[in-house]
Amino acid sequence: MRGVTPNYHHSYTFFFFFVVLLSLFRHVLSTNTLSSTEILTISSNRTIVSPGNVFELGFFKTTTSSRNGDRWYLGIWYKSISERTYVWVANRDNPLSKSIGTLKISYANIVLLDHYDTPVWSTNLTRMVKSPVVAELLDNGNFVLRDSKSNDHNRFLWQSFDYPVDTLLPEMKIGRNLKTGHESFLSAWRSPYDPSSGGFSFKLETQGLPEFYLYKKEFLLYRSGPWNGVGFSGIPTMQNWSYFDVVNNFIENREEVAYSFNVTDHSMHYVRFTLTSEGLFQIFRWDTTSSEWNLFGVLPTENCDLYQICGRDSYCDMKTSPTCNCIKGFVPKNVTAWALGDTFEGCVRKSRLNCHGDGFFLMKRMKLPETSTTVVDKSIGLNECKERCSKDCNCTGFANKDIRNGGSGCVIWTGELRDMRNYVVGGQDLYVRIGLYN
Ligand SMILES: *[C@@H]1O[C@H](CO)[C@@H](O)[C@H](O)[C@H]1NC(C)=O
Ligand SMILES: *[C@@H]1O[C@H](CO)[C@@H](O)[C@H](O)[C@H]1NC(C)=O
Ligand SMILES: *[C@@H]1O[C@H](CO)[C@@H](O)[C@H](O)[C@H]1NC(C)=O
Ligand SMILES: *[C@@H]1O[C@H](CO)[C@@H](O)[C@H](O)[C@H]1NC(C)=O
Ligand SMILES: *[C@@H]1O[C@H](CO)[C@@H](O)[C@H](O)[C@H]1NC(C)=O
Ligand SMILES: *[C@@H]1O[C@H](CO)[C@@H](O)[C@H](O)[C@H]1NC(C)=O
Repeated sequence: MRGVTPNYHHSYTFFFFFVVLLSLFRHVLSTNTLSSTEILTISSNRTIVSPGNVFELGFFKTTTSSRNGDRWYLGIWYKSISERTYVWVANRDNPLSKSIGTLKISYANIVLLDHYDTPVWSTNLTRMVKSPVVAELLDNGNFVLRDSKSNDHNRFLWQSFDYPVDTLLPEMKIGRNLKTGHESFLSAWRSPYDPSSGGFSFKLETQGLPEFYLYKKEFLLYRSGPWNGVGFSGIPTMQNWSYFDVVNNFIENREEVAYSFNVTDHSMHYVRFTLTSEGLFQIFRWDTTSSEWNLFGVLPTENCDLYQICGRDSYCDMKTSPTCNCIKGFVPKNVTAWALGDTFEGCVRKSRLNCHGDGFFLMKRMKLPETSTTVVDKSIGLNECKERCSKDCNCTGFANKDIRNGGSGCVIWTGELRDMRNYVVGGQDLYVRIGLYN
């Protein structure tokens, strides 16, 4: 640098430019939060955008028949995806009808007010918070309420991730908090244009071994089979989801039982699991090249996936015709009905068990039967499991709890075996008790 004399004119220009830049930057920074002095209204068109431009929160209306008028919702969608895809809706069963709505912070809660200033939705917290609170949209799609004075940015007073709608995003959980009893599950839209609660739900049930149940109202349509350390035994492709950068996490401890997934390639957080209004659990990944959602998984997939399609003590096999087969050592309860394809009553033993001296038949690549009345011992292996089953005259079958590293843990079934199927690849070994002469 030689002969440079200070140029005050340029310095002022630079200073002015700097101030403009700073204010712009502050403006950008503030758009991912809603403070207690700010409001969001339908008419202002303002939205809240997550810091990395991944998600956007705002008002939207769905196309409905003119008879019903407009219905406005507060929701979250992907900011940079051209095809509008909603991942969360606050007031799904309580739309605003007058195109007037205000989102604000009131008494340390996030509230949505209608044209009468009546709350149509609220975070409903009753705990007193002394300092001001702030609502914030994070880059993983979580809309959170925080104590603005707290330095711990991961402590939330409330989070939308605890109240899923139809979509599971990376880092979001399906499951149960065992301390509070709070359950997080997916509940489908009524139709592709109507976010109100439809009939289908997808839950992690915990009465037996934890597994996913897909319901239509209260009717069970599909179960995933229990978690076996790698995946759910009835979702055989799960161990291959890493191909789509998906890492499965299953948490089971004193505080919670939950499933979540993570995406390893972080530039690709555009993966979502959605329960559609037709009752299908679908796995999508955004394809940046073709600019569309790629479907890479759907449940249920085949006839054999449907709950109890074959009745008790039988299994479904897509390769046989008919697909329903009695377990070895069993015969159809009603042979005539079975031959006509009415498999509802299932199968019964050809001969009674002796209890002592019975054998076991290995069924490979199975979706394990329903576990609501099983006994589990994680501390023993397959040999002790077999021994324990042999000694218990009520035991009808056993399997490993975990299939990793050659298998560990013991699950024992008593009574009838329900809702089994086999796979060409995937599933796990099940040992079924059979009489000595079968
Ligand atoms: C909001 O958007 C609507 C439709 O795009 C437009 O008619 C209206 O003028 C906008 N309002 C403001 C305050 O920008
Ligand atoms: C808040 O409480 C009201 C009344 O108890 C209830 O109708 C509403 O569903 C609750 N809102 C949320 C988000 O849980
Ligand atoms: C997983 O992928 C491997 C390699 O492509 C394949 O051989 C295997 O059959 C797949 N497993 C399942 C359950 O789809
Ligand atoms: C998912 O990945 C993110 C980023 O790699 C990490 O911070 C987070 O802890 C992971 N979550 C789980 C449940 O593994
Ligand atoms: C067996 O099924 C046939 C055909 O559905 C039915 O007519 C018959 O009554 C059934 N028998 C018994 C014992 O239930
Ligand atoms: C076997 O089942 C019967 C009837 O449910 C029950 O009374 C009995 O205690 C059970 N036996 C064992 C060893 O669990």
